[in-house]
Amino acid sequence: MRLDALLTRLGLGSRSEMQKLIRRGAVAVDGTPIRDPGAAVLPGAPLAVDGHPVDSRIERTVMLYKPDGVLTAARDPKAKTVMDLLPPVYTSIGCMPVGRLDKDTTGLLLLTTDGELAHRLISPRRAIEKTYLATVDTAFRPEEVAAFAEGLTLSDFTALPATLEIVDAHTGRITVTEGKYHQVRRMLAACGHQTLTLHRERVGPLTLDPALEPGQMRALNENELTALKQAVEL
Ligand code: URA
Repeated sequence: MRLDALLTRLGLGSRSEMQKLIRRGAVAVDGTPIRDPGAAVLPGAPLAVDGHPVDSRIERTVMLYKPDGVLTAARDPKAKTVMDLLPPVYTSIGCMPVGRLDKDTTGLLLLTTDGELAHRLISPRRAIEKTYLATVDTAFRPEEVAAFAEGLTLSDFTALPATLEIVDAHTGRITVTEGKYHQVRRMLAACGHQTLTLHRERVGPLTLDPALEPGQMRALNENELTALKQAVEL
């Protein structure tokens, strides 16, 4: 793509600002100053502005430890959204959350610029497993394990078979393959439990990096990205 367009896409400034920057020799590609704003450059090429390296990749997939109280949305006029937790470049390159976690759900949220990857990960047809740790107000009963496995009947649909592992009296690990609105909370409510906390541990082959603190993100490594794409046959 054109060098000036790439810099603008990376959120470094307007197209005309970038043209000025390039013309004054501030931008180097592969270590060579480029003074032509229309020069062709591959996103991902080694790029430096005023001697400072700039990550020039416009395709990125990251994991975020979504904290409590933050909205899963690209933007919101009032509330803080998950995009506010990412450096601004992620908004510029069009990174979007993959699916949705409730405002008060914490844990693993993927965000990507790859629309096809996102689409496949949330497609019901792919039945990607998602695992949640839930704490509830009333004690789990052993027979609920079978009820989850059979498919719980909710007011407007029957949930697909899911897995409940009772971790302790008030804590359960639930794995589902669908992602309807308030899915896990509603499944728990169907068994008479109110959800106190809900935390996503896993999406398909990816588990939340234990090194991440709430609100922190990191790029997926090559192995993780490959595993994720394999899971959705990309
Ligand atoms: N199920 C829910 O009920 N809420 C979430 O945030 C995710 C799954």
